[in-house]
Formats: sequence, C-alpha cells, structure tokens
Amino acid sequence: MIKISPSMLSSNFCAMGADAKKMEIAGADMLHLDIMDGTYVPKITFGSDIIAALRKETGLFFDVHLMIQHPENHIADFAKAGADLITVHAEAAGHLQRLVCAIKELGCKAGVALNPATPLDTVKWVLDDIDLLLIMTVNPGYGGQKLIPQTIRKTAEAYEMIKASGRDIMLEVDGGVNDKTVHMFREAGANVLVSGSYLFAAEDPKAAMKLLRGE
Ligand code: DX5
Ligand code: ZN
Repeated sequence: MIKISPSMLSSNFCAMGADAKKMEIAGADMLHLDIMDGTYVPKITFGSDIIAALRKETGLFFDVHLMIQHPENHIADFAKAGADLITVHAEAAGHLQRLVCAIKELGCKAGVALNPATPLDTVKWVLDDIDLLLIMTVNPGYGGQKLIPQTIRKTAEAYEMIKASGRDIMLEVDGGVNDKTVHMFREAGANVLVSGSYLFAAEDPKAAMKLLRGE
C-alpha cells in the first residue's frame, strides 16, 4: 500500500490550515512537515508552534521531517505539538540510536533520513529501532528540485535491506516526486511518497494523488 505525504513546504504559508484540510479531503495519508533551521540547511521554515496550530485543523498523521542541528534538543517540543512521526537526519545526530529511542519514549514513531551522499550502512545498526527510513532523493533544503537519479538505485537497495531485516519499516522518498518520476520510486519499493511542488500545483490534487499511487 502506497501512502502519500504532501509536503506543506509548498503550501501557502498564510493559509496552512486550509491547505492541510484540502490535502486531507483529497485523500492524503499523512502530512509532511519540513522543519528547517537555517543551519543544517540554508533556509528557515517554521517550528513546533505552527505544528500545534495545524494540529487543531486536521486529524491527519503528522510526518515531521527535522532538518535541524541538535535535534535532541527539540524532539520533545515536536512530540508535544502533535507529531506522530519524527524523522531526524543521521548526519545531524551525534548518538543516533539514543535519539531514535528518545523519540519513541515520547510516544512518536521514529524515522531516520539519509542525504543522497550518505551511505545506507549508516542505518544498519538502528534498523531494529526505527519505524521509517527516509531516502532523500534531492539534497535537503528546497522544494521543487530535480530528482538525483542514483537515489533510485539507493532506494531499491534500501528496500532489500529492510526486507532482509524482517521488520515492518516504512520506506519514504522525498524530493522530485511527480507524475513523471513516480513510477521509478514505486518500482524501487518506496511505500511513502512525499510530494510538495507537484501536489500543490495540481488543479485536482485527488487525481494527482491517485496517479502517484498508480491507481
Ligand atoms: C526538501 C524537503 C521536501 C520538499 C519536497 O528539503 O524535505 O519535503 O518539500 O519538495 P518537492 O516535492 O517539490 O521536491
Ligand atoms: Zn521533507
């Protein structure tokens, strides 16, 4: 089953509640919330207070993607704000296994993200602890970028790694997912598709989500 997680990075920041609702009505399974701190990535987006405000507008599963330094200092705030899943970058974590366990102790599902150049082996020894693996298919920081082609092969390898683990770990891809590229992600085994610029530009987001799911 393919899940769709629209990225609110491409929403209208003056009308995030209405945009979240629009995606919910169109059939989204989750809402992808990109948190950027201006240090780990160049831009700054929004923080946990915005997530708490959005929590009042929709019952959708909140897929929070932290692109921040020192995520250990902020996970409690995001959990309290209503995150259902918190994904941290392996590259930003000093003690990844500890961090993942701390996220779960806060009552959230735990995800780990890998940048395009980061080897898959980085997560080998936390596979027992995570609920989701996020393969970045662009370098994080901006919406609307072009897919980095070799990340398709990486996604396929991640799929095999997860299968071999025997664990039920979601495999999410983020960056450059649209009508032209989606078949490659599905064939590689991704089962959570993040899509920002494509879904928010779509005239009929419901039809666009169906297309992404391959229905
Ligand atoms: C990029 C973000 C993505 C971004 C994807 O750093 O993590 O979630 O919104 O945008 P699109 O779908 O436009 O590539
Ligand atoms: Zn993201």
